[in-house]
Amino acid sequence: MNIVKFALASAVIFTASSAVAQDAANGQKIFARCATCHGIGDANRAVGPNLNGVIGRTAGTQADFAARYSPAMKAAGEGGLVWNEDTINQYLADPRSFVAGNRMAFAGLPSERDRADVIAYIKTYSE
Ligand code: HEC
Repeated sequence: MNIVKFALASAVIFTASSAVAQDAANGQKIFARCATCHGIGDANRAVGPNLNGVIGRTAGTQADFAARYSPAMKAAGEGGLVWNEDTINQYLADPRSFVAGNRMAFAGLPSERDRADVIAYIKTYSE
């Protein structure tokens, strides 16, 4: 329970201080790059964990994907990594180094604006 409250608090702080305006409609277009692997809304994909409700969720804990997370992603969650706007932003900037040894085969989104927009889109499925 405490960890959930902490995640919500840090998500709010990040939103208030973020200098980048978010555009969820543009984020939906960017999400096409994620959608080959990740289900969201009613869409199901098997390659990656479903992202409904990911904001506020501990890394490596989506129930349907439990058996397929990398040891690195599960260890990150056990170490306290909770997905919020800030941590997803850092992960998408450089997936390989943010969670070393994780298995997401995606180079990342170098543009801060693309990351902000795709996070805005993901957020619409986390409320
Ligand atoms: C080639 C397939 C692929 C693509 C493309 C991809 N991902 Fe992933 N993603 C994965 C896999 C597989 C994992 C689980 C990694 C692990 O367990 O080490 C993951 C993990 C994640 C997680 C952590 C989820 C959790 O439950 O802990 C987030 C958040 C995420 N991806 C977001 C994105 C976003 C946003 C995009 C697009 C910008 C994207 N991914 C593109 C395959 C992909």
